[in-house]
Amino acid sequence: MYSIIASNPGDTSVLKKNDFEIPSLKPNEVLVKNHSIGVNFIDIYFREGLYPWPQEKDLVLGSEAAGEIEAVGSEVKHFQVGDRVAYAQPNNAYATHRIINENLIVSIPDNVTFDQAAASILKGLTVKYLVTDSFKLQTHHKVLFHAAAGGVGLIAGQWISQIGCHLIGTAGSDEKCTKAKAYGYDEMINYSNQNFLKEVKQLTQMEGVDVVYDSVGQDTMFDSFQCLKKHGTVVSFGQSSGIYKNLQMTDLMTGSLHLTRPTLFHFYANRDWLVDASVLLFEMISQEKIKLNEISVYSLEDVGQAHLDIENRRTTGSVILKT
Ligand SMILES: NC(=O)c1ccc[n+]([C@@H]2O[C@H](COP(=O)([O-])OP(=O)(O)OC[C@H]3O[C@@H](n4cnc5c(N)ncnc54)[C@H](OP(=O)(O)O)[C@@H]3O)[C@@H](O)[C@H]2O)c1
Repeated sequence: MYSIIASNPGDTSVLKKNDFEIPSLKPNEVLVKNHSIGVNFIDIYFREGLYPWPQEKDLVLGSEAAGEIEAVGSEVKHFQVGDRVAYAQPNNAYATHRIINENLIVSIPDNVTFDQAAASILKGLTVKYLVTDSFKLQTHHKVLFHAAAGGVGLIAGQWISQIGCHLIGTAGSDEKCTKAKAYGYDEMINYSNQNFLKEVKQLTQMEGVDVVYDSVGQDTMFDSFQCLKKHGTVVSFGQSSGIYKNLQMTDLMTGSLHLTRPTLFHFYANRDWLVDASVLLFEMISQEKIKLNEISVYSLEDVGQAHLDIENRRTTGSVILKT
């Protein structure tokens, strides 16, 4: 049994393999043997120290995984040994085994694989709250979604296109734009060589969009606000290019605009929301309404390379690690 730990924030050289013994379970905990582990940009924020570390010195990174229950605590009510489960929680997933409270895991149906679950439980539930809770999308809405070819982006394209919105995406290369179009985006803008504000205005007959989902941050946020219609909303849910620091409250005056900065874990903490949302997500995957055909696979020990590929914008779709 081993995990991948970082002793202090830094580049990928801080990631080290660490053998460990399984401690005893608390009454409401289960032991999960991780089969597949999702890699997310949030892991890079933690590794670099952009997101604050918990107090303990060695941090096991990783926030998304799927596997099988190998042991249960004395008071576990809803799960048993052999159950197939998945979870999304900040840190502690880069490991062959993980102890976790039963309230934080969900069941995986038989027709969803461990790889599919690990590629989607964090990213898919993120899309779920983005489109139903942060801004309730309806058919008539015009939407701009940045980083459309990424892990969250390809799931978002499929989900939002089924709602029926007019969906515009951005991505950093022509290849990524072509890929995102195959996953539900009506129009794609290569924001490495096109001015996305100008393009969005043209595509919307100068009107703008109802909502921008912006996880890129520093490089896009100023123009994301300019892309909005009056009363439009920016949902800022990440900062892959760095934190946007120039916002003034008066910037929202230009169109009586709305801004929200949500995080999945506030929704995930509501058990009823979590169960309903994960059942819906896995149903959509089973019915191939959400396809996960773009999964890049690495071994757990090669997680440093996976981080380098994501942060250097070389990946499309989800990235997983195999134990
Ligand atoms: N708040 C939440 O609840 C929540 C939950 C999950 C994820 N997120 C956020 O959603 C975003 C997507 O997450 P993900 O794990 O699926 O990652 P991802 O989209 O697969 O990778 C990030 C993408 O950001 C784009 N990007 C633009 N500028 C970049 C830069 N300077 N450096 C690196 N990448 C840059 C790249 O796409 P292009 O090359 O096409 O630009 C890159 O592929 C992240 O910002 C993440 O933090 C937030």
